[in-house]
Amino acid sequence: MPHPDDPAGLGARVDAAVTAALAAIEAAQSTAELQAAKAAHNGQGSELAALNGSLRDVAPEERKAAGQIIGAGRGRVGAAITERQAQLAAAEEQAQLEAERIDVTALPRIRAVGGRHPLTMLSEEMGDVFVGMGWEIAEGPELEHEWYNFDSLNVDPDHPARGESDTFYVAPADRHMVLRTQTSPVQMRSMLTRELPIYIVAPGRVYRTDDIDATHLPVFTQIEGLAVDKGLTMANLRGTLEHLARIMFGEEAKIRLRPNYFPFTEPSAEMDVWHPGMRGGPRWVEWGGCGMVNPNVLRAAGIDPEVYSGFAFGMGIERTLQFRYQLDDMRDMIEGDVRFTEQFGMVI
Ligand code: PHE
Repeated sequence: MPHPDDPAGLGARVDAAVTAALAAIEAAQSTAELQAAKAAHNGQGSELAALNGSLRDVAPEERKAAGQIIGAGRGRVGAAITERQAQLAAAEEQAQLEAERIDVTALPRIRAVGGRHPLTMLSEEMGDVFVGMGWEIAEGPELEHEWYNFDSLNVDPDHPARGESDTFYVAPADRHMVLRTQTSPVQMRSMLTRELPIYIVAPGRVYRTDDIDATHLPVFTQIEGLAVDKGLTMANLRGTLEHLARIMFGEEAKIRLRPNYFPFTEPSAEMDVWHPGMRGGPRWVEWGGCGMVNPNVLRAAGIDPEVYSGFAFGMGIERTLQFRYQLDDMRDMIEGDVRFTEQFGMVI
């Protein structure tokens, strides 16, 4: 029934619209839902907007009262929206802060940059032992001429090591190129290019047609040593190797030389090393070859063997790493798994 002060029952319609709006505002669980409720109940096309629009049809003398009723309703809805907006915004900010919480006392997570390969580090470390004694680092090519790898080192053309079964020959055959089977060609290269006396070490990669197993790799690393001076003897060789062994394997390490044959040294010896931390208990293991430079080799380099003598040695760096850290499988050294590499430290 229209009230005299409320023509067309405006108050009831406004109340109903306000009640619906307040319920929707209360129900909104996010600012986005609140925006939707606001559009539906207070925006264009909402019941309250329609009621407001209908003021045009209200008689001018009643328009003020009607306008106040609608205005009051819209005011309540607006206030409820503002209040709910504040609540929801505060809750959302709180949730975001919670989600972005950082523990300022936590240790930083360091991004792993990888480890240098233990063979690289060991080559450098072995080289440094000699640099510390005034020796120099020398280099030669991995793709080497047969003359440097064999002939100049007094290796006979029919020596078994020259066979296809040990050596990678590189086509065309008439170029006489091989993948060097040892670092010993750097001996000859150094004697031909350097001033006497010579004290050099040459770490580097060598190649042999071996199958891969726990103790063999077809590509491996050696370090060669060569000293040519007046008056050098086997005692100098022995002392030098003993010094290296102690630095590599500890003060208790010992070396032993057993007679052997190499075409480029005379006398020649196989060198064994012993140290208490060897895998499987203290024991002797073969570490490398050595000897006094063969006078034929000195002559091939234009050095007078009556005036100068020399000693030379060569050992595998993989074997050195293996003996030093009790590693049982050389294949770990070539697989490139950073979990292996990292155990040796991160010296970058
Ligand atoms: N080149 C020899 C090898 O690979 C080692 C060696 C080097 C022996 C120097 C004597 C002198 O087995």
